[in-house]
Amino acid sequence: MSIISNDIQKAISLLNQEEVVAIPTETVYGLAGNIYSEKAIRKIFDVKQRPLFNPLIVHVHAVDQLGALVSEFPEKARLLADAFWPGPLTLILKKKPTVPDLITGGKNSVAVRIPRHPVTLELLRQLDFPLAAPSANPFNRISPTSSSHVEAYFKDRLKLVLEGGECQAGIESTIIGFEDGEPVLYRLGSIAVEEIEEVVGPLSIRNKKEHAPEAPGMLAKHYAPQTKTLLVEDIDSFLQNTDYARIGVISFSEKIKSLAGERVQVLSPAGDLKEAASNLYSALHKLDSLGLDIIVAQRFPEEGLGKSINDRLERATSS
Ligand code: TXA
Ligand code: MG
Repeated sequence: MSIISNDIQKAISLLNQEEVVAIPTETVYGLAGNIYSEKAIRKIFDVKQRPLFNPLIVHVHAVDQLGALVSEFPEKARLLADAFWPGPLTLILKKKPTVPDLITGGKNSVAVRIPRHPVTLELLRQLDFPLAAPSANPFNRISPTSSSHVEAYFKDRLKLVLEGGECQAGIESTIIGFEDGEPVLYRLGSIAVEEIEEVVGPLSIRNKKEHAPEAPGMLAKHYAPQTKTLLVEDIDSFLQNTDYARIGVISFSEKIKSLAGERVQVLSPAGDLKEAASNLYSALHKLDSLGLDIIVAQRFPEEGLGKSINDRLERATSS
């Protein structure tokens, strides 16, 4: 029997019993539990096979809930919250002692966001506690952008995946922290760097694996298909020079003359980076299910969400 359901009341009842429930957000599906339940939070780490030092994002439905969680809210954090919440922006803020160390990996900061998904906002409104939720994929695998992706990963471990349709933004939230009140970007995501800079001015970018201690999720290999995956500048010239037989392709906007069918995933025929971002993970899931010899992805333009897409493709292809 399927564990996918529209039943918000069932999700509430499970969460109140310290269970873990998969929830939809506008970015990717999350594995959610009560931040104050040690049992629920330990189960999240266990189901995901995630190391305990890698902290979780806390999801709330309103800014006034943050009073219980954070001890500082810098001016520029406020500007970003006003501009982008509800939405795919995560802020790293100084935490209050009442936020359990299990959520924050023992750090003195906590990651918070208000997601922009009607089902999960309704769920959060009906709960007496915020939800901690990492992406609902096993550690190092591709994040899920549909309820069926989550079910395929965890049908034996979860009682419920709350249905919310396909995730519209399609890659994880952009993560911003603060140093002396100034914003620092720790993870490229669904809000483009340029959009953030319009609100708070120039950003320091610390998205690379050298910075892993600050944002412990930023390991070089992450979000990876099980099929060997390559990132190339020019797909046609790769195809002309390769010996691989069963090849899958991720292309931005162009069809590939020599290959057809579901092995070619064109992320946005119109050349729209937002649309491409929303289709990226579902295309990787699809290609990874075909038993191919190799997946070849085209490098995207290094602007707007193209930077976030390239970041995920680099992590998918890093070995
Ligand atoms: O879009 C998203 O953000 C999704 C949805 C479900 O909200 N969640 C998500 O969670 O991507 P997760 O756990 O897969 O990634 C959270 C990232 C990790 O890289 C983690 O290291 C970082 O946030 N993080 C969490 N708390 C932090 C903290 N206090 N300081 C620095 N980085 C933190
Ligand atoms: Mg993740």
